[in-house]
Amino acid sequence: MRAVVYDRYGPPDVLRLADVERPVPKEDEVLVQVHATTVNRLDVHTREANRRGGLGVSLLSRLVSGVRRPRQRILGSEFAGEVAAVGAGVSEFAVGDRAFGNSGLRFGAHAEFMCIREGARIAHMPAGIGFEEAAPVSDGGLNALTCLRQADLRDGRTILIYGASGAIGTAGVQLARHFGADITAVCSTKNLELVKSLGADRVIDYTREDFTRNGQTYDVIFDAVGKLPFTRCRASMKAAGIFLPTDGFGNLMRALWPSRRGDKKVVFQIPPRQTKQDILFLKDLVEARKFRAVIDRTYPLEDVVEATRYVETEQKTGNVVLTIG
Ligand SMILES: NC(=O)c1ccc[n+]([C@@H]2O[C@H](COP(=O)([O-])OP(=O)(O)OC[C@H]3O[C@@H](n4cnc5c(N)ncnc54)[C@H](OP(=O)(O)O)[C@@H]3O)[C@@H](O)[C@H]2O)c1
Repeated sequence: MRAVVYDRYGPPDVLRLADVERPVPKEDEVLVQVHATTVNRLDVHTREANRRGGLGVSLLSRLVSGVRRPRQRILGSEFAGEVAAVGAGVSEFAVGDRAFGNSGLRFGAHAEFMCIREGARIAHMPAGIGFEEAAPVSDGGLNALTCLRQADLRDGRTILIYGASGAIGTAGVQLARHFGADITAVCSTKNLELVKSLGADRVIDYTREDFTRNGQTYDVIFDAVGKLPFTRCRASMKAAGIFLPTDGFGNLMRALWPSRRGDKKVVFQIPPRQTKQDILFLKDLVEARKFRAVIDRTYPLEDVVEATRYVETEQKTGNVVLTIG
């Protein structure tokens, strides 16, 4: 089968198309013929061994993915496709079913076929959408859900979502809307209308206004894009406010060893606990038309390097999809 492989950590052009052996499903696994996948920030960070996160983060990344070279040569965590074969113990899926999901750090989706355990994050596709719309549902969706569940969002709770136009941000706005929170979203001028249409009650254009200086405070501040230092927004949090980061070694340290000063806290779930139930939750929201993956660009698998370079600009709006076949 055709797949995008990489044999060493490095820039986007370490990725190349190759013919590799088609995987064979084990007893509890499903073989999926992948029709659509994505290039997301997890792919990018893993491919470069989290070099930009600093030495400590990079070492941790290599411990997970392979110290000298990647153990899993095929990236891609999100997928949508058709079940091509099932292991003897599989009962939930049959050949020909349309399925979508997320293999997380097991990756493997940048290929014509991939195997995934039936009990892992895979579900039947939401009714009424195609492969290209289903593949990007889970990366932003699961990451935002993991964060927002830490914050007890409900009617009347106020949240500011910073970086509301990225994969996690666009998902975060829609999920916060579903949970009933009052949402202030922050993004640049070109994304204001989109973010409003996703359910934000108000939108702040960070190129024109610094939200940390307008005197407003929030129960929750969600940095969906990893660009907002806790120290910069602490004064914009209410008493007992919660800061939800998506990135940053310093944030991890603050979450593990909270300061004894004040009652505002950083909440960071490491490792993130994301389950099949979460995929089913997103599927239900998609079917209820309360959630959709925002798609910026779509590339064929062959153009994976170009797609990756675009993701690395950190300027994509929502998600970047790869189509296969
Ligand atoms: N996605 C994953 O799988 C994953 C995994 C682990 C960690 N993370 C972390 O989660 C964070 C978000 O990931 P993502 O995939 O959602 O990001 P993303 O989609 O790449 O975010 C792109 C968006 O960020 C906005 N942006 C860029 N610079 C900004 C700035 N200085 N201030 C505010 N917004 C800015 C841009 O929109 P505007 O023009 O509107 O600003 C753009 O639309 C990153 O820190 C990433 O490292 C992601």
